Amino acid sequence: MRKTATIRLHVNGEEHALAVAVQRTLLEALRYDLMLTGSKQGCDKGDCGACTVLARPLGSRLQAAGFGRGEAILSCITLAADAQDLEITTIEGLATPSGLDPVQRAFADVGALQCGFCQPGMMLSARALLDKCAKPTLPQIQEALSGNLCRCTGYTKIYEAVEVAAGLRSPASRAPVASERAAASDSKAQAVQEIVP
Ligand code: FES
Ligand code: FES
Repeated sequence: MRKTATIRLHVNGEEHALAVAVQRTLLEALRYDLMLTGSKQGCDKGDCGACTVLARPLGSRLQAAGFGRGEAILSCITLAADAQDLEITTIEGLATPSGLDPVQRAFADVGALQCGFCQPGMMLSARALLDKCAKPTLPQIQEALSGNLCRCTGYTKIYEAVEVAAGLRSPASRAPVASERAAASDSKAQAVQEIVP
């Protein structure tokens, strides 16, 4: 028989009471009980970083002291019951009423995403880094994101986005990308040229 327990989770500033199986992971509770599907279920065994969330001790004064929303932790290898004394921030809680977090804005401005699967975890790991170290070096950025795997981007744009979020560079270096509509009308024009002698 499966044992269940009632637990309390503090997520993105809200408290939730949940009846869950004792072996429910924090990731499962976030995705399937609270419907916060921004945290991704990648490897489900602590290898890929897609499930990264931020966590700090409940009621901690770290944020007031300018420390931010805590450490990046892997929610797929954290039991939901063990997260009861933590304040959790998921990607859904990263923006504030005043707008996107600078990390989110920088990832968009730089174009540091393709399929997007790794992005919530990447952005939260980046936020944890910048809260501890406002002007990180490239090796520090690489180290901080080393637990977050991306199968699409090749990482260069991701590191650039973190530097942009830190104010270390501007995103202006991005080469202009032709829009699909422009590309489509170009090929249409070429097709017409080929038909009309
Ligand atoms: S889902 Fe891959 S580390 Fe958690
Ligand atoms: S953008 Fe696809 S895995 Fe990173």
